[in-house]
Amino acid sequence: MRVAIIGTGYVGLTTGVCLAFIGHDVYCLDSDKSKIEALRNGRVPIFEPFLAELLEEARSNLTFTTCYEEAIPGAEVVFIAVGTPPTPSGAPNLEFLSQAARSIGQHMNSHLTVVVNKSTVPIGSGNWVDSLLRDAIDSRQNGGEHTGFAVASNPEFLREGSALHDSLYPDRIVIGADEPRALEVLYTLYRPILDQTFSAPTYLPRPETVGAVPLLSTDLASAELIKYAANAFLALKISFINEIGLVAERVGADISEVGRGIGLDSRIGPRFLSAGIGWGGSCFGKDTAALIATAGEYGLHLPIVEAARKINSRQRDRVVEKLLHELKILKGRTIGLLGLAFKPNTDDLREAPAIEIAQKLIDRGVRVKAHDPVAIDRFEREHKGMGVLLCGSACEVAEGCDALVLITEWSEYRDLEWEEIAKKMRCPIILDGRHALDAEKLSRAGLRMLSIS
Ligand SMILES: NC(=O)c1ccc[n+]([C@@H]2O[C@H](COP(=O)([O-])OP(=O)(O)OC[C@H]3O[C@@H](n4cnc5c(N)ncnc54)[C@H](O)[C@@H]3O)[C@@H](O)[C@H]2O)c1
Repeated sequence: MRVAIIGTGYVGLTTGVCLAFIGHDVYCLDSDKSKIEALRNGRVPIFEPFLAELLEEARSNLTFTTCYEEAIPGAEVVFIAVGTPPTPSGAPNLEFLSQAARSIGQHMNSHLTVVVNKSTVPIGSGNWVDSLLRDAIDSRQNGGEHTGFAVASNPEFLREGSALHDSLYPDRIVIGADEPRALEVLYTLYRPILDQTFSAPTYLPRPETVGAVPLLSTDLASAELIKYAANAFLALKISFINEIGLVAERVGADISEVGRGIGLDSRIGPRFLSAGIGWGGSCFGKDTAALIATAGEYGLHLPIVEAARKINSRQRDRVVEKLLHELKILKGRTIGLLGLAFKPNTDDLREAPAIEIAQKLIDRGVRVKAHDPVAIDRFEREHKGMGVLLCGSACEVAEGCDALVLITEWSEYRDLEWEEIAKKMRCPIILDGRHALDAEKLSRAGLRMLSIS
């Protein structure tokens, strides 16, 4: 099928490459010329494991463009995957979505184009995009007589760091459409994934447990709400374990064991129950704020979701409090951060806990050093003015530090040369913000380990 994807960020590029890999003819469009230029030259502008390899395999089915005239005419399906960043009120900024919808409407020409919101958008956005498309078609000089379209919602559940795995082997595909023809088109598009009939790439083998993928077809509003509700639930699982962590710390219980103990209950499940400095990234913060804002428009309060956000923010303060308690004075100290990306296996720094924690420390007169295996360049570009001293290795960060904080649990941080690190530090203290390090190993190396539970 002929497909266009508007926005080639973490979601759009992953979706485009996967759809091209399973055999569709995909046009990936972005308004950012430098991104498209990089992609045309075979460079992937984000860090996502195996994305470069899959793109190479699917290259013959991919066209990268900045031009709506090139991507939209003839497309049977158009995905909107532009950013929907938060505004100060919590409601998402829909400017990019509106620009994309208008541009699509100006160039659609088939008898049926299915326009799909893959961006995370507030409830009601399907109807809104429908009206923007209609306005754009009506305003065309050549008229829009032969242009038919339907709007659908297809929320994205991929996790950065395992985005390709999640797209090729999803837990479920949700499609919301009030028009049955849209559902039929999307069913045909996703069929190789739903039935798992494509040949798996060697570097992303199909897990043995994966069978046919469940398809949930709903009305537009339900699909839109599913996305927000899923992210809110995951966020509150993390905040729940962090709240229990506070109790664990007071009563002398081990929060990792508590998390394991409750997660083994199949009604609860083991994931998202690791205590620590809390969630970051472009989705949980933004989507919980948007859900609260939407509920507010209907006169509703969401105290559980609000509490999850407060607890998450408190976890960042607890890092500073722990360091203060241990070092007594923070002014003039040097503290090293291990990890900048909001989680391992990505270079994404949006709402990364490292940035918030670094700023809180800097505000208290701390000199902050940091390392990250992949996000250093992005940090340099996006947060140059912060005054964080970037280092080429964890060992270099440790040099002269009064404490280290493990912020991102990159696997390479689990097996560092801890003896060497301890020797380089002024005070051999490490705060494990992710319950990822081996306390015994660290203690043997002469490091005093603290944790956030
Ligand atoms: N990143 C994730 O893990 C994730 C997961 C699920 C859902 N989502 C949702 O998917 C959407 C996209 O997220 P992302 O992380 O890929 O964002 P992103 O910022 O990485 O990418 C968005 C892209 O859209 C482009 N763009 C903006 N306006 C445009 C326009 N009018 N025409 C063409 N291109 C335009 C930007 O240049 C950018 O490259 C958001 O709504 C997000 O909430 C993200």
